[in-house]
Amino acid sequence: MNLEGKVAVITGSAVRIGRAMALSLAEAGVDLCIHYHLSQAAAEQTCAEIRERGRNATRVSANLSDPVTAAAVIFEAALSEFGKVDILINSASVFENKRLSDSTEADWDSHLDINLKSPFFLCQRFAEQLPPGQSGAIVNLVDWRAKRAGAEHLAYRISKAGLVTLTECLALDLAPAIQVNAIAPGAILPPPGEDMSYLDERAQKAPLKRAGSPAEICHALLYLLRSDFVTGEVLTVAGGEQLTGGRG
Ligand SMILES: NC(=O)c1ccc[n+]([C@@H]2O[C@H](COP(=O)([O-])OP(=O)(O)OC[C@H]3O[C@@H](n4cnc5c(N)ncnc54)[C@H](OP(=O)(O)O)[C@@H]3O)[C@@H](O)[C@H]2O)c1
Repeated sequence: MNLEGKVAVITGSAVRIGRAMALSLAEAGVDLCIHYHLSQAAAEQTCAEIRERGRNATRVSANLSDPVTAAAVIFEAALSEFGKVDILINSASVFENKRLSDSTEADWDSHLDINLKSPFFLCQRFAEQLPPGQSGAIVNLVDWRAKRAGAEHLAYRISKAGLVTLTECLALDLAPAIQVNAIAPGAILPPPGEDMSYLDERAQKAPLKRAGSPAEICHALLYLLRSDFVTGEVLTVAGGEQLTGGRG
C-alpha cells in the first residue's frame, strides 16, 4: 500500500507504542484518528504532534469494555472527520499477571472484551465502510506469548491467542481487498507500575540480550503496511524471546 494520503484508526494511540505508531504513520503521510480511553491530554498532544508533521488528526474516546458501542463510536468519529478509513490498527490492551487460581470473572471479561472482542467488532466496522474495489489493511498487536503455553498472564495470553486466530481467519475472509496481519512484540516498554528493571531482567534471558524499542515496532508496522503480498502473518519482534519462552 502506498501510505501517502491514507487514513488510519489506531486504538490506544495517545500513549506508549500506539502513540509511536501514530507518529510514524504521520511521517509516512497518513492522517490519523487517535483513539483513547482516559488519556485525553496525551491524545491532544499526540494530535498536535501529528499536525506538526503536516497531517490531519482527530481524537475519539471510547471504553473498549463495551466493544460494540466503542466500535460504532470510533468509526463514526473517523468517518465524520475523514470520510474513509484505509487502515485499522488494534493496539489498546490490558495486561494482568494472573494465573487460574487468582483470576476473577472481571479479569476474564476485561481481557476478552478489550483485547479480543473489541478488535473483532472494529474489524467488522472497518470492512463494512470500505467501498467495493478499495484496498485496506488491518494490523493487530498481539504478543509472542499468544503462541506459547504458560501459566502466567492467563486471560491475557488467551485473549492474544484469540487475536492471532482472528488475524488468520480474517485474512481469509476479507481477501483480496483487505490484508490482515499481526505484530507480536517482545519486551518493548515496561507495563504500567513497573520500571526498566522489568525489561532488563527479561532482556538478559532473550537471545539478543536487549529490550526492543517502539521504533522497532513501527519499523515492522511500516513493513507490513507497505507489503502487498503478505497477509495472515504474525511478525514477531521480540529479540528471539519467543524461542526461549522468556526462560533464557
Ligand atoms: N509494551 C510491550 O512491551 C508489549 C509487549 C508485548 C505486546 N504488547 C502489545 O502491544 C500493544 C501496545 O502495547 P503498549 O504496552 O504500548 O500498550 P498497553 O499498555 O498494552 O495499552 C495501553 C493502551 O490501552 C488503552 N486502554 C486500556 N484499557 C482501555 C479501555 N478499557 N478502553 C479503551 N482503551 C483502553 C489505553 O488507553 P488510555 O491510556 O487512553 O486509557 C492505552 O492507550 C498492546 O496490544 C500490547 O498487548 C506490548
